[in-house]
Amino acid sequence: MSRRRRIYEGKAKIIYEGPEPGTLVQFFKDDATAFNAQKHEVVDGKGVLNNRICEYIFQRLNGIGIPTHFIRRLNMREQLIKEVEIVPLEVVVRNIAAGSLCKRLGVEEGTVLPRSIIEFYYKNDELGDPLVSEEHITAFGWATPPEIDDMMALAIRINDFLSGLFMGVGIQLVDFKIECGRLYENEMMRIVLADEISPDSCRLWDVKTKEKMDKDRFREDLGGMLENYREVAKRLGIMNENEPARTGGPVLVKSD
Ligand code: TMP
Repeated sequence: MSRRRRIYEGKAKIIYEGPEPGTLVQFFKDDATAFNAQKHEVVDGKGVLNNRICEYIFQRLNGIGIPTHFIRRLNMREQLIKEVEIVPLEVVVRNIAAGSLCKRLGVEEGTVLPRSIIEFYYKNDELGDPLVSEEHITAFGWATPPEIDDMMALAIRINDFLSGLFMGVGIQLVDFKIECGRLYENEMMRIVLADEISPDSCRLWDVKTKEKMDKDRFREDLGGMLENYREVAKRLGIMNENEPARTGGPVLVKSD
């Protein structure tokens, strides 16, 4: 069997060429990295969980008309995606102060923000993904003003939907990061959601206990990363290795 071509390898995923033109295969690794890969560990089974969680979220987003690169999950670690041209920006949406926002602006972690805040970071490992303004983005040609508008609209719709989805299962969506791609179809180009959404790229806090259920468990050496990712999957009603498949969808957690 001939080996398929590896197009790109990132810190947590590998992109292979797909079975037909215009498609790619996205492989989820078990590697966990933080602080621009200065901290690195292999967390057995993380890739499998993230593949499932990402599949579920992208399907739900596709279901409400949010365009994504996702086609279908292929197996435990891989999904078939549409080939897009990645916009070299990380788009972060914040609802509650945490992480770099607290460090940069001296806001206390957990402060509810007066409104959701969108930030852009330039994707460049050598520079450590610096925060950039729309001025930088347009001046350096990383995206056009209409593309910035599209990315912001996409980010806000995703935030609204996912905040509700997670709240329904007792999880607060503190912040998250997305990446967007340019999808070329029938001489048309549109901005779609690419990359992944998973506990690696979100901050998720248990509503009642405020327990962290995301990659901060690894970043902050809290332990129990996989257990928490599994709990996120379980609450969303997604099958995992230790649990038979459920068909019922998210488990509603009643607040008292
Ligand atoms: P930050 O507070 O470190 O800037 O992170 C904001 C959000 O973006 C948080 O949900 C984690 C996510 N994120 C990534 O997905 N990849 C990254 O490289 C970084 C720095 C953050």
